[in-house]
Amino acid sequence: MLSKNEWDPLQRVIVGCADGARIPVMETSLRTINYSHLDDIDNIPHGLYPQQVINEANEDLEGICSFLTSLGIKVDRPDTTTAPGYYHYCPRDSVCVFEDLVVETPMPLRARKNESQSLEHVFSSLEDQFRWVKMQAKRQELLYNTGCVGDPNTLALTEVEASFDAANVLRCNRDIFYLVSNSGNRAGANLLQDLLGKEYHVWPIENIYSYMHIDSTISLLREGLMLLNPDRIKDKSVLPKPLQNWEVVWAPDPGETWHYPGYCNSSKWTSMNILSVDPKLVLIEKEQTSLATLLNKHGIESQLLPMRHSRTLGGSFHCVTLDIKRRHD
Ligand code: NVA
Repeated sequence: MLSKNEWDPLQRVIVGCADGARIPVMETSLRTINYSHLDDIDNIPHGLYPQQVINEANEDLEGICSFLTSLGIKVDRPDTTTAPGYYHYCPRDSVCVFEDLVVETPMPLRARKNESQSLEHVFSSLEDQFRWVKMQAKRQELLYNTGCVGDPNTLALTEVEASFDAANVLRCNRDIFYLVSNSGNRAGANLLQDLLGKEYHVWPIENIYSYMHIDSTISLLREGLMLLNPDRIKDKSVLPKPLQNWEVVWAPDPGETWHYPGYCNSSKWTSMNILSVDPKLVLIEKEQTSLATLLNKHGIESQLLPMRHSRTLGGSFHCVTLDIKRRHD
């Protein structure tokens, strides 16, 4: 069986690579999804990220690989022989694993349409039985709502076709939590529900965070324990029913963490973007010692590692990995 939740003991994982990471040329999908919070986009660069960013991000990714390998976890890397339209840094964004079903999601950013191809070789090498489903995406112009610029209450995506990044999803076995936001519409949640069938329940989460991805807002630490972002969630009663009786660790304010000048793809809350090695060990950013202390009180050890470009590139440990196999006893 492949991975079905966010915390069981990790056995095999893909770790991203920053080679070729770039900001694509501006067009409607990029404008509405990545930059709706900015009125003025004249200063947004395009093309390859500075070499320093790519080199340092790669060094930090190598650090993750070495640590996980030292624990006996099998680590795979994306195939980077084809230059990415966006990047190969976040394998979490394009593919989601649900036990014996692997789903290539209909990502809304046009530049990311081929991104999952860099992961296919890993799945082809698995001996396990699983089904691969590619959800089709047209990315038609009507999918993007230009009225979202400057208004976090108006989302970037309309409902004309299903569209979502895999990183809008968190898995708790047969309960699947899906953030409706700029990077995932309601039609995407419905399509995922239809695909997974009635043994699963896809729970849409709305009006909590408008921008990209769920994993700087909620992190599932183990069955019954979650880390929540206090800037975005004031009370767990706004969450889907299965999460309402979970115990909460409120993430401490991470402070204004660094990003490369002129390049910022995310908020300071990438601090919450953790990877669970198992229910008692997580990877967190080197500076986040308050978070480590807090988690320790709940019986969770932290491995502190550098992720110098988590904000520059828009992803920390959860985003830059894709857990393929966990041991589900
Ligand atoms: N878009 C998210 C980061 C996701 C890892 C944020 O800026 O908080």
